[in-house]
Amino acid sequence: MKTNTSCLLTLGLAACALLSSPAIAQVVPAPAADKSTGRAAWLDEAKYGMFIHWGVYSTLANGEWVMNRTKIPVAEYEEMAAKFNPTKFDADAWVAVAKNAGMKYITITSKHHDGFAMFDSEVSDYNVVDYTPFKRDVIQELKEACDKAGIKFGLYYSQTQDWNFPGGAGSKWDEAQKGDFQNYIDKKGLPQLKEILTKYQPSHIWFDTPHAMTPELGHQFEGVVRDINPDTIINSRLMYHGNQVEGLKPEQLEGLKEMGVDFLSYRDRTIPPHSPWEYWETCMTLNGAWGYNEKDNNWKSPKAVVMQLVEVVSKGGAFLLNVGPTAEGVIPAPAIENLEAAGEWLKVNGEAIYGAQPTIFEGQGDFVSISAAEQEALEKEARATGAGKAKKGHKQKDYAWLATGREGKLYLHLFQWPDKPMVLHGFDKDKVTGAYFLADPEKNPVKFTQEGGTLTIDLPTEALDAVDTVLCVTLD
Ligand code: GLC
Repeated sequence: MKTNTSCLLTLGLAACALLSSPAIAQVVPAPAADKSTGRAAWLDEAKYGMFIHWGVYSTLANGEWVMNRTKIPVAEYEEMAAKFNPTKFDADAWVAVAKNAGMKYITITSKHHDGFAMFDSEVSDYNVVDYTPFKRDVIQELKEACDKAGIKFGLYYSQTQDWNFPGGAGSKWDEAQKGDFQNYIDKKGLPQLKEILTKYQPSHIWFDTPHAMTPELGHQFEGVVRDINPDTIINSRLMYHGNQVEGLKPEQLEGLKEMGVDFLSYRDRTIPPHSPWEYWETCMTLNGAWGYNEKDNNWKSPKAVVMQLVEVVSKGGAFLLNVGPTAEGVIPAPAIENLEAAGEWLKVNGEAIYGAQPTIFEGQGDFVSISAAEQEALEKEARATGAGKAKKGHKQKDYAWLATGREGKLYLHLFQWPDKPMVLHGFDKDKVTGAYFLADPEKNPVKFTQEGGTLTIDLPTEALDAVDTVLCVTLD
């Protein structure tokens, strides 16, 4: 396996050098000029956020779609809502989990498709303060905790789908759900959006499942955001469902920009081959569930979390990783453990993540489990402009290495340890001035030679970090 890896490393990279060979680019190309100044620039710096799916559904411990999947009548679900009492909820403790994990922003469900608001709403008393014995404004408490901790605070809001309010979009299984869609928009969707923007000044609004959405309505929602809080950024799920994004035509993407959408939100649990937008995000589950599911104990390891985060950053995106707290208000312990372990890695290697940029090695990384020809095909695909092709089951890959960078620095993330020198091509425009491991406090030099555009690195025999050893290559 080891020999294969390094063999592929060398072979794969040689092939890449040929493919990327108008080697006019520096290995870390300068980011687009507008990247540091745009409304969404903070997202590009932050890179890593915590998604929180939490609501009345957490009581049934069977995911956030449980009301729909098991056709719970509206009145019955309301009875459950009236008992929601998460006495163990502690906003500061949740935010501390995010902070220790190295996450820089939080996105929490202020209203999911079940229609129940986790904030104090004047628009509808179907909310956590007016409807439950708990009577505390969860969103307000989390906002305050985030402000204290220096974490950006954003709100998920299901803008059209609502299984409680008559006329809300989505499938219907109860007479009480029937009604006029426009009435839902006028009486709940838009007024609650105004409410959350005014009360909580979120850094971002995360729209989802835009059933029945029209461009006119999209403009209306966007207009509300801009009127109230011009700096709040919004995702593409205002108009298109995440699983449509990879297939969007250039004119549709242009339409989203014209509408004022700030970042693309990819299909759930999918890292795209390549994004045509400078700002994008993908959301991922830590096990298989968004809302708490007691049966799902399939937790991603810290290494898997780091590898996915690095893959996303290597392609210029941001990574939103989900936790689903219990109905009592507790983030499951295995989630905390794995997030914190990945957070330890970030404490040492954060400079290779926060604000880091793609490099000419985007989309490469030598999958050890596939052939060189398949690898070449993937590289071609990765470089294709446009939205790229949606790949069915584009799931987690097992990379040998990936690269991120910033001005004057290339970070090589080594997930598997090659037993031969590592050879990289494409350095024609760069003079390599040094190399050291981020995990080495002494920054001892690592030996390398540069001949023309080829860099050969003499790695020590063992990895410094079993998760991901980052080699920082300095460039002039
Ligand atoms: C889907 C689901 C939703 C979940 C979201 C997370 O669109 O409808 O339940 O909140 O994905 O991205």
